[in-house]
Amino acid sequence: MTSRTARRRTVAVVLAGGTGQRIGLSIPKQLLKIAGKPILEHTLQIFEAAADVDDVLVLMTPDHVAEAQRIVTRAGFRKVHRVLAGGATRSETTTLAIRAAAALPGGDEGGDEDRNLLFHDAVRPLLSQRVITECVEALERYRAVDVAIPSADTVIVTRTHGDDGEFITEVPDRARLRRGQTPQGFRLSTIRRAYELAAADPLFQATDDCSVVVKYLPDVPVHVVMGDEYNMKITQPVDVFIADKLFQLASTTAPAHSGESFYRDRLSGRTLLVFGGSYGIGADIARIAEEYGARVYALGRSTTGTHVENPDQVDEAFARAYAETGRIDYVVNTAGVLRIGRLDATDNATVREAMEVNFLAPVNIARTAYKYLAESGGQLLLFTSSSYTRGRAEYSLYSSTKAAMVNLTQALSDEWAEDGIRVNCVNPERTATPMRTKAFGQEPGGSLLTSETVARSSLDVLLSALTGHVIDVRQQDPTAPGNASGFEKALASVLHEQADVSS
Ligand code: CTP
Repeated sequence: MTSRTARRRTVAVVLAGGTGQRIGLSIPKQLLKIAGKPILEHTLQIFEAAADVDDVLVLMTPDHVAEAQRIVTRAGFRKVHRVLAGGATRSETTTLAIRAAAALPGGDEGGDEDRNLLFHDAVRPLLSQRVITECVEALERYRAVDVAIPSADTVIVTRTHGDDGEFITEVPDRARLRRGQTPQGFRLSTIRRAYELAAADPLFQATDDCSVVVKYLPDVPVHVVMGDEYNMKITQPVDVFIADKLFQLASTTAPAHSGESFYRDRLSGRTLLVFGGSYGIGADIARIAEEYGARVYALGRSTTGTHVENPDQVDEAFARAYAETGRIDYVVNTAGVLRIGRLDATDNATVREAMEVNFLAPVNIARTAYKYLAESGGQLLLFTSSSYTRGRAEYSLYSSTKAAMVNLTQALSDEWAEDGIRVNCVNPERTATPMRTKAFGQEPGGSLLTSETVARSSLDVLLSALTGHVIDVRQQDPTAPGNASGFEKALASVLHEQADVSS
């Protein structure tokens, strides 16, 4: 394999020139919002984060180039060189992209094999880093690479007979059938040549780029990299719904920052309020932030006598911190009550407590926090529970009130985006906290996250540019592959949870 330093540059071409007729809306489907962001932005984010990708080109539906450019600028994507108008067909869009990629700085216009091109459908926003890496690695040995997955369905070939409808003519052996995805990767010289030959063919038509190489350069082997079942293409209305659900599962993992000085620079002289700061995760966040020089107000029932469900006490806490430090940069709420049991056997006081502490309190904290965070351009950080994706028996109050935090986070991040306020939500896996011990008793050591781990990840979120995200904090799985995405880990943990329930 070619060494890292000698490797060819890789250009990711994001094909967003379509209109999405099958979805049938007035805007192209790549501009639809999923999990709070346009699909195109999710896809670009993947390439921005890909170590194997150097440059990105976007080919956009001609009437929406300005909108795509706005998305790129707002998100600050540095790898995106140009946003260009796409063509009338997908193949035309590819042809325009080949020309633009050859003209990128550092390119050798007429040269061959000088760069890799990865063509990717903008409407596949769940592409994994593993697939990108494997495509780029495969391009060290091959000139063309496809990404595909086995077909779970039996595929049939049909012919239409007049008004009688369709009839089967062939049932190909399913074991050999694959469903093509993207990216499709090529050496520039190879794909350029294939399209030159195609241009001379009056009967040319194609829905993807590998088929152009297969047809016009039959001697070039097209290597196949294993895709992912979830690398879906948003095509039909139902796909928007499925992708939204998948994003909910995928959430995000805390962005890692490096070096003590990073934390010190960002925290010293800043004011942090932690509600639920008496013990557990809240107390750890407060302690660590203080060590880095933040002015911290750790507020809790048992320490400062602050009841989060009491709006006057919440207001007072903000007012005092502001009066004493002149600013409020970060507001965290970890306060929560977890009472398990059947709802039909739960008394009024317990229901009210869950509503007040888990739901009303964060709402009140958010309302009061607004003016202070608008002034500082700061962040509100809430906490949810992994039961937000699926309520569990005997957890009805906890899982439903905690699920509300996800919706509150997304709504406020949208409402307050213009004011420069970020709002996120941490979803810690089972964590060793006093609240948990009270509900479940002692659990086997090693099966729980420490509250310090969750606190450190929470600080990483506070110091990041993220907004509107649910950030998962999970136990490191020693058997997970090193580069397993947050999404793959989430899927694994859903399966394990099912196994736990059934055992
Ligand atoms: N595409 C493109 N240029 C075109 C047509 C499609 O860049 N002229 C892109 C789409 O934006 C999409 C990918 O190719 O990211 C796959 O296209 P597909 O979903 O099949 O086509 P659309 O035109 O987007 O949708 P529809 O067929 O439903 O109209």
